[in-house]
Amino acid sequence: MTGWSLQDDPEPSGKNFRSPLHPRRPERVVAKNGAIPPIDPRTKEQGRYAHPEGPKRPRPDREGALGMIRPRMREELYINLNPLQRGGVVPAEGRKTAVAYIDGYSTCDYCPGTLHLMKKPPIQDFLKEVAEFLNMDTATLTQGCREAKLIIMRSLTTPGQTILVDSNKHYTTQLAAELAGLEIVEIPNSGYPRFRIDPDGYLEAIGKVKKETGKPPALALLTHVDWLYGNLVDAARVGGICREHDVPFLLNTAYSSGRMSIDGKRVHADFITCSGHKSWATGGGTMGILAMQSEWEKKVLKPSRHHELKPLELLGCTTRGTSALTLMASFPTVKQRVKIWREEVEKARRFSSQIESLGAVRQLGEKPHCHDLLRFETPVLHRIAQKHKRRGYYLYEELRKRKIVGTKPGRTKRLDLSTYQLTKEQLNYVLDSFKDIVDKLSIRN
Ligand SMILES: Cc1ncc(COP(=O)(O)O)c(C=O)c1O
Repeated sequence: MTGWSLQDDPEPSGKNFRSPLHPRRPERVVAKNGAIPPIDPRTKEQGRYAHPEGPKRPRPDREGALGMIRPRMREELYINLNPLQRGGVVPAEGRKTAVAYIDGYSTCDYCPGTLHLMKKPPIQDFLKEVAEFLNMDTATLTQGCREAKLIIMRSLTTPGQTILVDSNKHYTTQLAAELAGLEIVEIPNSGYPRFRIDPDGYLEAIGKVKKETGKPPALALLTHVDWLYGNLVDAARVGGICREHDVPFLLNTAYSSGRMSIDGKRVHADFITCSGHKSWATGGGTMGILAMQSEWEKKVLKPSRHHELKPLELLGCTTRGTSALTLMASFPTVKQRVKIWREEVEKARRFSSQIESLGAVRQLGEKPHCHDLLRFETPVLHRIAQKHKRRGYYLYEELRKRKIVGTKPGRTKRLDLSTYQLTKEQLNYVLDSFKDIVDKLSIRN
């Protein structure tokens, strides 16, 4: 127990605790009138770079590290723009389930010998639903998206072989390939400012690898939506090319499945990897999904020689606790939310064009944009930092005073954020706040 309660924060305005008992304050009006919502009264360090949940003060009544753990209330008290976190906010039913399954090995009360065959709780049935949802033949749980990628690389390839990846890949793709002892051939992006991946680059790269090694690549991996620019690549085109040339196709959907509908068969995916804590409203640890077509199942989920029920690459059982159950509890919400993906895209586009109208702000990546993850170049904010006494930290602090978090402290050249699942009112408030900061500090500096 960390000893805090909702009573400590009489007006929680965040998404998860919004209720008739806690009406949300009209933040935009407050900002427009110039009366900025007060910062956390427990924080004495007004305007200084400090932790949003309060000052760093040891609690002598609690032992060791426990005394340093602060309540984390980003979703309850702040508007959180962190692009890494928006798709992993857990709905109420997931939160309740997480608490109920918080004990160690909570999935294992009625163990049939391995996690993915578990009937109570109904993990086996849930995995069937997930496979159906992605239009794949089968799905299994992994610790995260990165582990799912590694499992595929390890089970399909041998060290020294070559695989294709896009140059907008996540670092974990590179690490997984390194661990599996693989050579990488990259499909380049179009460079500044759009950084687009051309699906036909895969065709060229397959030809190049064949010419150089005498064999097709052992695997082609595409980052469906990349983590930097939020560009969405035409997976069906890449999948079609791979199918034509007999190259197994892995679609990394860390930022897409769970937010938007994915049809694995339509895009010719042999494998789909997903990140529960990034895009499937999952918390309580990390969580991944590995979905595949049935022809690969025997190879990838091959059992141990010594334990016939235990898939070797999964080391028998993967996520044996809260995160698996949270994923299951949040799944109905995820199934519903993918239906309104178009609205999320519209929201992101509107936000992008409105923040650009501040002047000296430019969205990078695809335009029109097809995802909530946005990167901006922000000379207007950087110019202020050059003269401000707090340098680049002013932005984080000014936003935090206005109850907005999730930007990188000290960074002003670029702004990375996500609009996912934020209301129009919240986004308008964010826009008004940026405007307010620029107006106020451009004149003063
Ligand atoms: C595109 C992409 N793939 C994979 C990952 C890793 O996901 P996980 O934490 O589930 O391993 C990330 C993390 O940011 C990512 O952006």
